[in-house]
Amino acid sequence: MIETRSEPTFDKGLANTIAAESEMSYIDGVNGVLEYVGIDIDTLARSSTFEETVFLLWRRRLPTTAELEHFNAEIRREYQLPEPLWTTIQQIPATATPMHALRTLVSALAVHDEEADVNTPDANERKAIRLLARTPALIANFDRHRKGKEFVRPDATQDIATSFLTMLNGAPPTETMARALDVCLILHADHGFNASTFAALVTISTLSDMYSAVTTAIGTLKGPLHGGANEAVMRMLEEIGDIDAVEAFVKEKLVRKERVMGFGHRVYKAYDPRATYLKTFAGQLAEDTGNLHLFEMSRAIEKIMHDAVGAKGIHPNVDFYSATTYYSLGLDIDLFTPLFAMSRVAGWAGHCIEYLLDNKLMRPRCDYTGPHGIEYVPIGDR
Ligand code: SDX
Repeated sequence: MIETRSEPTFDKGLANTIAAESEMSYIDGVNGVLEYVGIDIDTLARSSTFEETVFLLWRRRLPTTAELEHFNAEIRREYQLPEPLWTTIQQIPATATPMHALRTLVSALAVHDEEADVNTPDANERKAIRLLARTPALIANFDRHRKGKEFVRPDATQDIATSFLTMLNGAPPTETMARALDVCLILHADHGFNASTFAALVTISTLSDMYSAVTTAIGTLKGPLHGGANEAVMRMLEEIGDIDAVEAFVKEKLVRKERVMGFGHRVYKAYDPRATYLKTFAGQLAEDTGNLHLFEMSRAIEKIMHDAVGAKGIHPNVDFYSATTYYSLGLDIDLFTPLFAMSRVAGWAGHCIEYLLDNKLMRPRCDYTGPHGIEYVPIGDR
């Protein structure tokens, strides 16, 4: 237990502030370690599934075979969207950004859930499962709607990764593709008090509801300094265009003190362990799908960044190689961040439930720097 300070201290961006305790993710930023409930992320990526990882995060232990089968059944029973949501999806302009669509549709889920404002642990667990189970259908079918394609409803015989890709593409994925997405969902499931999780906790700490908290989180994840970075990395690769242009592009950005997307992290000052895993993955997938040029460009960027700012603790983060991975999976670039959200619903909902066990309203202070003693001048005299 770290001591609780009574005197307010100024910590812009809360970089050095511990807001609460949690048993879900352990991050060692110096040594580049990430554990979910004590299990190393690399081991989980190699050995687990997204659904098993969600069970681990929410129940703080690995399930037995029977428990996992029951958990899978609970999730798949909730795949189907409330019927009016299909009309709601059609009412969203085809030109809408998928993250705006997702934020809108998660809010719409709330108005069809009679438990939306029931704040008991059991009701919140059920809502967590509904959010996890339904987000894939919202993302995939908004994409189908904006492309003028027929809706594809979720198939309860499939796991989340397979069901999402089947809805998105209108046909089941290969096992390799489904496993690749499953691993990406594991890697993105939770990560301590990142900005979007913290935003969700601020919302739930007022005893608002799970849907409002997840809506807050989606809006927060959208920013390019956070979950939006994976899309920004892909657009950067497209802008650079060719490996021969990499060095000049990166060096010019650094000279202009601009952020190179996919690098740096508030906590990791070593290589993000998720990036370590994703790098290998991206390389294999890129080779299998004819996108090796993207992977080679990424490696070239990494080398230049390492030489230029590696000593400052700026290394690839989870978003850098997930860009090539998602592109190789055939996803549109503006679906990269919704995919991040689809996984992080696990962390957002899990942290909300955990924080409510010992809730305290999140309300930091601000250091007032404005004037005092100003006279009120009637408008006629101004
Ligand atoms: C995610 O918090 C989480 O856990 C998030 C996440 C999760 O799983 O939820 O891990 C997912 O959001 C990963 C991060 C994705 N964002 C990006 O890739 C955007 C690019 N990265 C940067 O904007 C930045 O690294 C942040 C925002 C991620 C962290 O920045 P900090 O901690 O606020 O640090 P800073 O911006 O003050 O930078 C410190 C120094 C600066 O140099 P000086 O002014 O001190 O000389 O490092 C430099 C920065 O210029 N720097 C970079 C850089 N990131 C930091 N320089 C070039 N390129 C970068 N990407």
